[in-house]
Amino acid sequence: MESRPKERIVPMEVADMGDVRGKAQQALTEVSKVVVGYQDVLQKIFIAVLCDAHVLLEGMPGLAKTVTAKTFARVLGCTFKRIQFTPDLLPGDITGSSVYDQKTTTFVFREGPLFANIVLADEINRAAPKTQSALLEAMGEHQITVEGKTYHLPPPFCVIATQNPIEQEGTYPLPEAQLDRFYFKVIMDYPMSDDEVEIMARQVKGLRQDIAPILSPEIIVAMQKKMDLVWIDNRVLRYIRDITTKTRDDAQIAVGAGPRASLVLMKAAKARAAILGRNYVIPDDVKEIAYCTLNHRLQLKPEAELEGIKKDVVIKRLLEEVPVPI
Ligand SMILES: Nc1ncnc2c1ncn2[C@@H]1O[C@H](COP(=O)(O)OP(=O)(O)O)[C@@H](O)[C@H]1O
Ligand SMILES: [Mg+2]
Repeated sequence: MESRPKERIVPMEVADMGDVRGKAQQALTEVSKVVVGYQDVLQKIFIAVLCDAHVLLEGMPGLAKTVTAKTFARVLGCTFKRIQFTPDLLPGDITGSSVYDQKTTTFVFREGPLFANIVLADEINRAAPKTQSALLEAMGEHQITVEGKTYHLPPPFCVIATQNPIEQEGTYPLPEAQLDRFYFKVIMDYPMSDDEVEIMARQVKGLRQDIAPILSPEIIVAMQKKMDLVWIDNRVLRYIRDITTKTRDDAQIAVGAGPRASLVLMKAAKARAAILGRNYVIPDDVKEIAYCTLNHRLQLKPEAELEGIKKDVVIKRLLEEVPVPI
């Protein structure tokens, strides 16, 4: 039987947007018992989960990418698998494959680690392209096809992938077109100086063992359904369109964002509104997620790159140039 403390038992149904906000807040607070700082990163991962979508975490080694993904899975009360990507990992190692069962003298399908609600694809750029595509296909289709048979991956299905931004030997950078499968690319930067002290203090105290599963797959699906009730005005839709189309004719951008970026901005803005307890989207919801939605979908012109111009500066300028609806 359940042995959780009483206040942590969350009812299965989700009443209204206030309830979505409460549950999101409770879950994020629980994750923060382990992960120091990174409030905006945690919020973005949660938004992706509500959209049944995937996140790429990019950062230098040792910035708690793995710890963040693992803690999330625990708090969401979901099944969790971790795949450490290496150059010799084969597609079948992640999707699963048929194995011969001596007892029944037949081949039976043994599920690979992709069969989980939350999948940590750790150091994704270290795997060979074939294995990366098997992962990306499962991410796009929410299903896996092995030996002609299709297996559906039930929601929530969220891949949290990590990669180190520094080009290392023996890595296979993800092709731009495949990066599009990730709702967000979230950059994990070095911690704030006070946070760094807290990180050490927590290590001294030892790892927390009492992190509770606050949510469950059923509650998450119920929260996902609530997203349909978030109102988004035509003026905000046009605002999103203006941002996306502006990336396509900017002097510093070689390749702009496609319509998928607009869809992501729309859905993710709704999810952000919901976790803040609102049943309508405001332009700020769009602005706040614009960078992590657009940064991996744009390519700067070589001359801009040579001048040392950074994507965050370009995207910030675009957001300043696009008129915000009132
Ligand atoms: N912001 C942070 N909050 C909590 N622990 C942290 C933080 N940053 C680093 N750590 C600690 O540093 C170690 C490295 O974290 P890890 O998740 O393995 O890093 P990465 O996957 O980014 O290489 C972990 O033991 C973790 O406890
Ligand atoms: Mg790691």
